[in-house]
Amino acid sequence: MTISRMPLPYNPKVLELFRNPKNLGKMEDATVTAVAGNPLCGDMITFYLKINEQDIVEKATFESYGCAANIATSSIVTEMIKGMSLEDAWNISWKSVAEAVGGLPSIKFHCGILAVGALKRAIRKYHKNKNASPEWLKEELSFEEKQALEEEELAKMLARRMEKAGEQ
Ligand code: FES
Repeated sequence: MTISRMPLPYNPKVLELFRNPKNLGKMEDATVTAVAGNPLCGDMITFYLKINEQDIVEKATFESYGCAANIATSSIVTEMIKGMSLEDAWNISWKSVAEAVGGLPSIKFHCGILAVGALKRAIRKYHKNKNASPEWLKEELSFEEKQALEEEELAKMLARRMEKAGEQ
């Protein structure tokens, strides 16, 4: 049996969220949306946020083509940030999200990181659209945004290599 065929040790909470995700789907009246992941490999996540005038998250939904860990972490993120200020939502780390789903297998850490990366991108984009730069929003990318970017670059590079291999 190869490693990839071994069942992953997901805890019951992850499996429950995977089977019955909360806030799944497109939001037509979103204030801002952001995507993380790469369409070429299929691990894509979109976050939709509805933000009120006091910069509070009124509603959050997501769409995901990722794995169970990605769906579970995205689902819990949308629940965690509801009613939160954008600053508090920004301060959520992938580790706290992984904890909130009861832990993730280490090879699935990146799936949770991608979910939080999409959230942080949405928060950054919202401020960019408004031309606002609150003091807590650093110009330097957060850990999760950097990781999402790295994963996207890697997927693109692999896709280019496969394309070239196909041409030979
Ligand atoms: S989102 Fe790609 S393996 Fe989980």
